[in-house]
Amino acid sequence: MAPLGEGSEEALVVQDENRKPISSILIIIAMQTEAIPIVNKFQLKEDLDSTFPKGVPWVRYHGFYKDLRINLVWPGKDSTLGVDSVGTISASLVTYAAIQALQPDLIINAGTAGSFKVKGASISDVFLASDVAFHDRRIPIPVFDLYGVGLRQSFSTPNLLKELNLKVGKLSTGDSLDMSPQEEASIVANDASVKDMEGAAVAYVADLLKVPAIFIKAVTDIVDGEKPTSEEFLQNLAAVTAALDQAVTQVVDFINGKCLSEL
Ligand code: ADE
Repeated sequence: MAPLGEGSEEALVVQDENRKPISSILIIIAMQTEAIPIVNKFQLKEDLDSTFPKGVPWVRYHGFYKDLRINLVWPGKDSTLGVDSVGTISASLVTYAAIQALQPDLIINAGTAGSFKVKGASISDVFLASDVAFHDRRIPIPVFDLYGVGLRQSFSTPNLLKELNLKVGKLSTGDSLDMSPQEEASIVANDASVKDMEGAAVAYVADLLKVPAIFIKAVTDIVDGEKPTSEEFLQNLAAVTAALDQAVTQVVDFINGKCLSEL
């Protein structure tokens, strides 16, 4: 086998793929309220003859928009409790299953997030994450500590950033909406501007299966502000989905007709 690295067979295949126009994108969204405006915008249709295993709540919407095949996958409602299946476990499972079934060229993980006034954020700001990491996987043993943090870079999109009016910042992921003092310390260590419950899990699976991924996060709550997070999140969720929908549409319009190396 040829050695990996610059000039290797594998590197040349990746280079080649980066020069083909993007034809299939996969949007992964955790909550129905976040997903529906985007489903409607692109006139996506629900897959009634599911691609996924029988009995799972995962929902796929699909359709064509300009030159792109769009699949949007939402982990659906918890079968027992009836609430959105938010968090890293559902996100990684649907990401894995959707990549296997749909072989997308690019993943967009879109959703809402908390942000921080120390980072200059306001409600409805939309961030494109430069890096993603976890803030609730503490393993204080050398090297396992780094595995726990799971820092990964998003696919680099310098032209998209030049063109669109998005904020850039690091994204930190954990399975809680609130924030313990230990998590706060990890979020500061991660230098995060945005805090969500799925991004780093999607990044882990995308990296495993070598699919480029980007992360678009719209701010529903200011974690270091005066209001309790859950109250502020619920109060702003519906309104902020409009900002998310607009940003996702702009990103999809920018992607259309381009190859990965042009993003
Ligand atoms: N999604 C929206 N707000 C959030 C927060 N503060 N933490 C985690 N996920 C979120």
